[in-house]
Amino acid sequence: MTFEIDNIPSQAGRLAVITGANTGLGYENTRYFAEAGMKVVMACRSESRARNAMASIEQEVEGADLEFMQVDLSDLSSVREFAKTFRKKHDTLDLLVNNAGIMWAPYEKSVDGFEGQMAANYFGHFLLTSLLLDLIPDEPDARVVNLSSIAHTQIKRIRFQDIHWEKRYNKFGAYAQTKLACLMFSIELQRRLELAGRKTLSVAAHPGVSDTELVRYLKPWQVSMIRYTVGPFLTHPPPEGAIPQVMAALDPDVDGGEYLGPQGFREMSGPPGRAKIMPWARNADANRRLWEVSEQCTGAEWSLEA
Ligand SMILES: NC(=O)c1ccc[n+]([C@@H]2O[C@H](COP(=O)([O-])OP(=O)(O)OC[C@H]3O[C@@H](n4cnc5c(N)ncnc54)[C@H](OP(=O)(O)O)[C@@H]3O)[C@@H](O)[C@H]2O)c1
Repeated sequence: MTFEIDNIPSQAGRLAVITGANTGLGYENTRYFAEAGMKVVMACRSESRARNAMASIEQEVEGADLEFMQVDLSDLSSVREFAKTFRKKHDTLDLLVNNAGIMWAPYEKSVDGFEGQMAANYFGHFLLTSLLLDLIPDEPDARVVNLSSIAHTQIKRIRFQDIHWEKRYNKFGAYAQTKLACLMFSIELQRRLELAGRKTLSVAAHPGVSDTELVRYLKPWQVSMIRYTVGPFLTHPPPEGAIPQVMAALDPDVDGGEYLGPQGFREMSGPPGRAKIMPWARNADANRRLWEVSEQCTGAEWSLEA
């Protein structure tokens, strides 16, 4: 794999949607795309945070073409509203980057009755993808990119018997489940695209470990402890952490169903390449079941073969 972040061919005339684009990896991803001349729709829940981020990128990247559109991924009606507004303004979409996420949040039920992390990280993106997929051209450089994590290695199956964690909540397990679900979704979406004869690709990526606002649910002393002890050795900064997802979106050598991440110690940092997919994320029966449960939960309707 020869992807070079400093040598991205011009992406002028192309359009991307990046969820959670106002900070962390989504912000860096937006900046990379804008530098390459791509127009980016920043799909964010807070207008003021998005506008601040936009101003900062515009200052850094001359001629950056950015648009803000509001969406709360943890609320299915907001996702539907976003898709409706997007479709009024745009009739095609080259890249959808399902990036937004929260980690280790205290138990909360979303307005739709889902556990909060699962709602924002997974179910919202499942529905969003179903609502925009037909706008994505039938070609291999048109892609859906899904953010997973090393955390997918920490849980071996989706808790189908209690997917919303109503019986017993474990915030670490719940986060890991969302990231396993995102990877399973990415693989299953690719399978269904192929079955339908579509050339559009579904690719997953993870950043390793990168110091972003994702730690917002930790106590400040816990963040400091990590930041000033193991942090410098095991993590890499967001501009590097975002490279695997940019590669997943743009590298012509990437195939559908692949998973990209850093190649250093335990995939925590380092240059991007193919990442390890745990066998349970490739379990065809579980992937199909998760898809069906997700359809039931979100009401998503797909025009793809089963
Ligand atoms: N950083 C890491 O080490 C790491 C490791 C593995 C995987 N990841 C994954 O990478 C992705 C990006 O994380 P990050 O590290 O960049 O975290 P971050 O700095 O906290 O950024 C997360 C983004 O998601 C947005 N978001 C959260 N909930 C949302 C919702 N309900 N609706 C719309 N937007 C929402 C946030 O918006 P607000 O600013 O308004 O809150 C923010 O823009 C996540 O999927 C995460 O699981 C990160």
